[in-house]
Amino acid sequence: MVESVTGVVARYDQIADFYEQRSGKTVSDPATAAVLDLAGDVGGLRLLEVACGQGRVARELARRGATLTALDISPALLAKARIYETAEPLGICYLRADVTTSGVLTGQVFDGVVCNYGLSDIDDLDGLLANVARFLNPDGWFVFSLLHPCFPGWDSDAPSSWPPDQGYYQEGWWLASNTGYRCRVGSSHRMISTYLNSLVRHGLVLDRVAEPPPSPEMEQRRPPGAAPVPFYFAARCLRR
Ligand SMILES: C[S@@+](CC[C@H](N)C(=O)[O-])C[C@H]1O[C@@H](n2cnc3c(N)ncnc32)[C@H](O)[C@@H]1O
Repeated sequence: MVESVTGVVARYDQIADFYEQRSGKTVSDPATAAVLDLAGDVGGLRLLEVACGQGRVARELARRGATLTALDISPALLAKARIYETAEPLGICYLRADVTTSGVLTGQVFDGVVCNYGLSDIDDLDGLLANVARFLNPDGWFVFSLLHPCFPGWDSDAPSSWPPDQGYYQEGWWLASNTGYRCRVGSSHRMISTYLNSLVRHGLVLDRVAEPPPSPEMEQRRPPGAAPVPFYFAARCLRR
């Protein structure tokens, strides 16, 4: 069953087993590795991971010495995260919430907020960024990664960031028509300028940016003759 909080549907409930198998426990894929690098030394910090899924990044940050709160809208993925927490207690506080609502985590402040591969799954970007800015203490940072908004697509399991029949300039939520998981959970496409202007509007200033290339395994799937293209985008922002 697909549940909803405040009208936002937990789309990942229907693919929770598949998603966990696919992204697994590891944090070595290029975008996640970039997020951990951009977060830097997290020892002693109070951190929030939003759209945490099954908690693989929250666990790694906690192992590196941070105190973690982690939230997601999907009860099925949170159930998996809690099983990991029971097997390896790291003191992570998991919450089910829609991160875009104005009342979420009222009064709580963090040294950093992390969102790994979550932005294109979150329908209300302004709602998210308004809350990220509210969650951060004055020296706080926001680190995120996502499939690069300019990725043009390679194959049925790695579709373009945008609806292929409409192109890069067509923003909004869309459902892929191929066999990959984006044909089940969809994706919100936004141009890179929309992301950057939204960060500015919410007082989140770019500090560092990364565009990690795909892994060697993924690189092998680049169609013959196709040029290397932007694949991942990750950034660290500071509160202005
Ligand atoms: C691609 S998964 C990323 C999971 C995890 N961060 C990782 O690196 O594997 C995107 C996640 O965003 C969550 N999500 C989507 N909309 C949300 C919302 N409004 N509030 C909280 N979580 C949301 C989904 O439930 C899903 O777990």
